[in-house]
Amino acid sequence: MISYSRASVLVLAMVLGAFVGPLAAQDPSQLTLDYYAKNCPHAQEIIRAEVECAVRTNPRNAALLLRLHFHDCFVQGCDGSVLLDDTATLIGEKQADQNVNSLKGFDLVDKIKQKLEAECPGVVSCADLLAIGARDGTVLLGGPYWDVPVGRLDSKTASLDLANSDIPAPSQGLITLIAKFWSKGLSATDMVALVGSHTIGVARCFNIKDRIYGDFELTAKFNPSSELYLSKLKETCPAHGGDDNTSPMDYVSPYVFDNAYFEGLVQGEGVLYSDQQMYSSLVGYQTADLVKQYWADPLLFFKHFSDSMVKMGNITNPEGGEVRKNCRFVNS
Ligand code: HEM
Repeated sequence: MISYSRASVLVLAMVLGAFVGPLAAQDPSQLTLDYYAKNCPHAQEIIRAEVECAVRTNPRNAALLLRLHFHDCFVQGCDGSVLLDDTATLIGEKQADQNVNSLKGFDLVDKIKQKLEAECPGVVSCADLLAIGARDGTVLLGGPYWDVPVGRLDSKTASLDLANSDIPAPSQGLITLIAKFWSKGLSATDMVALVGSHTIGVARCFNIKDRIYGDFELTAKFNPSSELYLSKLKETCPAHGGDDNTSPMDYVSPYVFDNAYFEGLVQGEGVLYSDQQMYSSLVGYQTADLVKQYWADPLLFFKHFSDSMVKMGNITNPEGGEVRKNCRFVNS
């Protein structure tokens, strides 16, 4: 009886507290804006030039970098662990449920890292490369700019188990999603703002079929324009096969970083179940309110998004590490 009431209080505190800020204070960050000013003054320009070239060639590259940074920060902190390849002595995170056949952009990271190593060997970490690259990609697609505090170190380890348990999944409901962000020191407001990243990039049919052959059909019954959209989604994602076909998560402007994605959620047209939960969950009164605010006020979305990106980027790995020479392997 006692433990039941304690658990209830904890869940209630978590759900309520998630809107005003997590209970656990984050570790003070050692990151600074001028960390590379002396030993690699052109680091930011080098990354920016490479990201610009990649995004002009294919705007999806911006989405790839943004997602890599997110999946990096949610496992052991932002420490480049997501970039490590499997070796005889190390099991990486690339085979984790939410990463395998899904996470991309590793070649682009290698290319940027080579340029950095040519200019200032052994100075700029892979984790910082991801944080700056995610910001630059966002800006290049019309999103907000924010200063990226730097000085992260790259881990010497990775965790497949943590990647499997801590990275949110598209089949999960609102309470689980809030809890996962909460456990990283991020509030539900951070979560709704950050998930606005889905304004760019695509999802595979594998991740959206349950929804488009499930509760999306109910939405479409009451809204003729959703019906048209649903039939297009079904063309892309047939009931059988085609699991690796892709569909944008914001069909209005898939490669513009704007707030159109939130309008989709208000219309009940989120392609991922988890995304639609932000607006439609029965316990999501406050997240739904944020979705509506971000739809009505793009500048508010941009402000919250950039603040939350800094917050997410400040999740550090307390174990420290090194500056990897090659992002795929720990230094020998
Ligand atoms: C509620 C939490 C989240 C869930 C459940 C989730 C889930 C997903 C899924 C399932 C995909 C499609 C992957 C595929 O089909 O292969 C995706 C794509 C993406 N996610 Fe998330 N995500 C979440 C939050 C975030 C956050 C916080 C960010 C960034 C800060 C982010 C950035 C992206 C981007 C940019 C893409 C497109 C990638 C591409 O085009 O390849 N997501 N997400």
